[in-house]
Amino acid sequence: MAQRIAIFGAGYIGLVTAACFAELGHTVAVRDIDSDKIAALQAGRIPIFEPGLAELIARNAGRLSFTVDADDAAADAQVVFVCVDTPPTASGDADLSRVWSVVDSMKGAAHLSAFVVKSTVPVGTGARIRAVLDTAGLRHVGYAANPEFTAEGRAVQDFMHPDRVVIGTDDHATAELLAAVHDGIDGPVMAMDVRSAEAVKLMANALLATKISFANEAAAICEATGADVNLVMDAVGADARLGRGFLNAGIGWGGSCFPKDTIGLKALAVNGGYHPQLLSAVIEVNELTRRRAVIRLKEELGTLDGKTVAVLGMTFKPGTDDMRESPATVIVDRLLTEGATVRSWDPMAQPQTTPPWSSTTRCASPLDALTGSDAAMLVTEWPELRDVDWPEAAAAMAAPVLFDGRNLLEPGAMADAGFTYLSVGRATVRG
Ligand code: UGA
Repeated sequence: MAQRIAIFGAGYIGLVTAACFAELGHTVAVRDIDSDKIAALQAGRIPIFEPGLAELIARNAGRLSFTVDADDAAADAQVVFVCVDTPPTASGDADLSRVWSVVDSMKGAAHLSAFVVKSTVPVGTGARIRAVLDTAGLRHVGYAANPEFTAEGRAVQDFMHPDRVVIGTDDHATAELLAAVHDGIDGPVMAMDVRSAEAVKLMANALLATKISFANEAAAICEATGADVNLVMDAVGADARLGRGFLNAGIGWGGSCFPKDTIGLKALAVNGGYHPQLLSAVIEVNELTRRRAVIRLKEELGTLDGKTVAVLGMTFKPGTDDMRESPATVIVDRLLTEGATVRSWDPMAQPQTTPPWSSTTRCASPLDALTGSDAAMLVTEWPELRDVDWPEAAAAMAAPVLFDGRNLLEPGAMADAGFTYLSVGRATVRG
């Protein structure tokens, strides 16, 4: 049955959730504190890039509204979804201030049936929110944790066809209501208690990050022993118990989720008196992986001081304009610190006015970035990089040296194009 829903937070998760719930037939009010963002949405402009999102919002415009007013958003709602961000504080714990400000704005919302947190929060947050709602006279309002597993760049697809929908609640009526809200979504509902649902999100991201760091450590061992990490991971991942997904070696993980959630889970463990050795190593391997990429290029060139390096890709992965915690930022910072000049290219990243990017020259095409450069680093596997005319690029460079941080290109073809080609966990070839 169609519900009236209020979504707090118009970021990646909030907008995708709102658009998809509207597509399912619900009426959705979206509230954000950023008045520019709300004005843009009211005018029909979508402030982020996510495939299919603009079309979905346009198609369901009659069921979607946008406001900066919390009371307005909640006034008619039966169910409130909290989709605000929870960035790490200086101590690594999640900053829940935005979640608490939504909770505070619910004090007069006695008409609500359920209050649902989709934001990623430490285990135990739901119990604290429950207590505050109870004290505010909202004991009858159901509480649920409903973590989100969508990946950027495919979030609409992931939302409509999820591997699972996790609903964590301690009361039966709320579980049934939320299952009904998700009616029409093509995936199984897994119901559990609030704490377990909160933990699922953190553990899922930690295990995905673990697979990537494992692949990157395997790559270093392959480099030392002459094996090819791509071939090794293809065969390792063919074991159905292991799976090939998230075993791509490269310059490591970034984005708004894995860095924050691994640090948050570590903080949660340490605060509880447990030293998470495996998780700590996973985080450390990721940090070393980025730095090793610059060290390997420096070893190849002798020095980076005075060299011009083309950096191909700025976003944390292809298919998004998101630069948050992009490994490229650390790599550019290291290159500049070593004395290099950086020419950058990315098809989608917004212009950057902050360091280290403000010290790079933004180029209009890969070839433009490569022309005259002493070396290049491929840091985001944008598909258009496969289509570069690499023999032409080699001829246009001062020295054709390329470090492929995503193993996107074929070593044989790059050697034929005239490159000294370094990649991750594979032998270096020289044209
Ligand atoms: C991730 C999870 O995949 C989602 O399930 C989760 O819902 C989301 O975080 C979240 O917590 O909101 P996302 O950050 O959008 O999604 O991006 P991913 O596609 O998972 O990639 C994360 C990083 O890992 C990227 O920097 C990517 O380049 C890197 N990666 C991924 C690798 O280095 N190797 C791989 O094999 C896969």
